[in-house]
Amino acid sequence: MAVDKPPQSPPSSGASRPAATPKQAPSGASQPAAAQKPAVKLGAPAPATGATRPGIPLRGQNPQRPQQVPSSRVTLSKGRTKVGVSFKSQDKIEEERKEVEQKLVQVPIEERVFEIPGMKEVAESPLFTDFHEKIAPKIKLAETSWTILEAFSNIDVTAEKVSQAIKGNPYYEYLFQKVIEGMAKREEMPSIEGSIVLLGMQNFRNLIIALQASRSVMGTHAEWDKDGKLKIAPNDVLKYAVKTEEILINSKSEYSDTAYAAGLLFDVLGMIAGVVCQDKKRAAAFLDTVYAHGLRSAQIALEMAKLLPDFGFKKYVFSACLIHDIGKICLAILNPDYITFYEDAKKKEWPRPVRQFAELEKFGVDHSVIGNQVCYLFKIFRPLEKVVLFHHSPHLLKSRNANLFQIACIVDLATNIANNFKKIEKLDDPILSTWKGLELRDFRIEFKILADAVARVQI
Ligand SMILES: [Fe+2]
Ligand SMILES: [Fe+2]
Repeated sequence: MAVDKPPQSPPSSGASRPAATPKQAPSGASQPAAAQKPAVKLGAPAPATGATRPGIPLRGQNPQRPQQVPSSRVTLSKGRTKVGVSFKSQDKIEEERKEVEQKLVQVPIEERVFEIPGMKEVAESPLFTDFHEKIAPKIKLAETSWTILEAFSNIDVTAEKVSQAIKGNPYYEYLFQKVIEGMAKREEMPSIEGSIVLLGMQNFRNLIIALQASRSVMGTHAEWDKDGKLKIAPNDVLKYAVKTEEILINSKSEYSDTAYAAGLLFDVLGMIAGVVCQDKKRAAAFLDTVYAHGLRSAQIALEMAKLLPDFGFKKYVFSACLIHDIGKICLAILNPDYITFYEDAKKKEWPRPVRQFAELEKFGVDHSVIGNQVCYLFKIFRPLEKVVLFHHSPHLLKSRNANLFQIACIVDLATNIANNFKKIEKLDDPILSTWKGLELRDFRIEFKILADAVARVQI
């Protein structure tokens, strides 16, 4: 696949970096202030004035009034060559910084991302198109499943609320009643609400979701044995969903239902792999690897979030970590070379930026972009769209939304820890700063919290 090379020089427009290039001072002739300054020979010590160290007041100066020193210009001359060095007052710098931040907030983050060299090709990538043709229609969460997952994610879930999902949907109403009929011979059929209670709320949820997922992914309908019992066992269809929910119930988390939905995404992609992939075994093994990495990160993030009292996105932190690399599974389903690429990059221990660059070059699309699309389609995770999109670059969300920035940072941090896991003995352990990479420089978290969170993780 031909992919355009990224330009050698940064884009000139730069909605993404409107003021990254500082304003160049015009020549000394047009600067009256500069003309008044004495020329200084190269190599000579700089004059000891406040102008040479903007923003740092000298002893005796009022630190409240650094702006009294205007923008200055010192001209260094050597023979006929003149070198201009300009300094700006601290206030001017601050004013420009605010201006840049303001502009950044005004430009939607998506546009800024597509300004990054190479990202424009994403929209035209054949894999991106393939994703929308082959995976998107199957992953799109159907209304019935959506209503059920929504009802379960609220604390006050009742049989009455859950029943709304199939009332008025004759297809599922009929299937459900048939399952209840198969359970026991009754003189009179109970109401839908009564049947849900009889089957158990979670069993009802699993039944309808398994039926709907099988129908939308594989186009199959429920089959019954000679005793009138359903041939498929919903828990066998929903292995990842059920397993994930159990993990959260065991760790006494109140958000096990959201985690169930995250696990469901793996089940759905597993089914899609079964339909689309030639080497189904290899695809299934890769899916399991991505799940294991997500789960490990999620368990670390869960402990971290418990130690951050002001964290505002607790409901989603586990799920966000679990699904952050879901785009990798989609890419592997569409192109098995992705698995080879992934294994190779791991063996060669490529640093993450190199891996990301190579991924974009080779496949024309980044797994976080595909993951973002998955969250949009599987609409219970729409609140996580941006978190998944920026899970390797959370700093891009800093000026957009404080909560999103925080959760994206935690996802990034937790995955860094998961990839390089170690229990910490002392707070000066150098591994702590490798976990908190450059992309997390604006995220404030004490190393003690990281060490304590890691100590609590049972992996
Ligand atoms: Fe990733
Ligand atoms: Fe990851």
